[in-house]
Amino acid sequence: MTSAAAKSIRPSIRKAVFPVAGMGTRFLPATKVMPKEMLTVHDRPLIQHAIEEAIKAGIEEFIFVTNTDKKILEDHFKPQDKLEKILSERGKNDALNIIRQSNLKKDQIKITYQDEPLGLGHAIWCAKELVGNDPFAVFLTDDIILNDHGCMAQMIDVYNQKGGNVIALENIPKADTGKYGIADAHQSENNIFVIQNLVEKPNPEEAPSTLSIVGRYILQPEIMTYLAAHEKGAGGEIQLTDSMAKLIKDQTFHGLEFQGQRFDCGGALGFIEANIAYGLSDPAIKDMLLQNLKKYK
Ligand code: UTP
Repeated sequence: MTSAAAKSIRPSIRKAVFPVAGMGTRFLPATKVMPKEMLTVHDRPLIQHAIEEAIKAGIEEFIFVTNTDKKILEDHFKPQDKLEKILSERGKNDALNIIRQSNLKKDQIKITYQDEPLGLGHAIWCAKELVGNDPFAVFLTDDIILNDHGCMAQMIDVYNQKGGNVIALENIPKADTGKYGIADAHQSENNIFVIQNLVEKPNPEEAPSTLSIVGRYILQPEIMTYLAAHEKGAGGEIQLTDSMAKLIKDQTFHGLEFQGQRFDCGGALGFIEANIAYGLSDPAIKDMLLQNLKKYK
């Protein structure tokens, strides 16, 4: 079969899973009541940054793995009739357009619940029925990536060439390997890697590389078979990385060192940096922000 023919029979990536049922303990007390995913970078919540990246990549169905205390996350994407009516009566059309841009159609959002935060792997498994038998994308909303050609769109380009599973990778300082999943991989072309193994949060002395897994994945549905075992890994949690490391024995995994600046918004440092970078990318406030930042040397 020619590679063009192989590409044409590859199922397209239409669905994305957003696991948003975690506790956000690194961000307490902000996350005592407010979900971490609703914290704002620049002018919109983290979850909206992720949904916009997904839309740019052609995703049509958005699956939230959430819990019953986090209804605000789904509400954010529903039309807010009262607010729209007031804005419309007052002729505030710019504001009206802004809020309407974040509305999703009813059948585009699917909700499933993770009753207890048992880990990222468990959260993905909770989406099993909604995902079905097709490959799907996963977005961890902690990671936001500043680039006009979104990270997931870049990954779908790789998937269209290579098929299988695709993971976003970033080169990090060796001292930080214990914070992330790390890939054992070799570079095959430009910024694409062939991954042989994945290890969750290895000590720097044991890490197979400094290529860290960033919170964007394209996964084949067979991952669910491994996740179903509910085996606990690092930190006593059911880890996605452990199941991917098993699936690697049967299927290809490519890593993409993507173009764009990634911010880890799961903690204060990355979150504050992201606010500065996104602020500087907004022409309406860029000059004043740069000016004001000089005060804080
Ligand atoms: P994190 O590892 O950042 O965990 O999860 P967390 O609970 O959100 O935050 P900390 O570590 O306590 O500060 C990455 C993503 O996976 C989701 C989180 O909501 C977050 O978007 N997640 C994590 C779940 O949905 N369920 C889980 O059991 C764990």
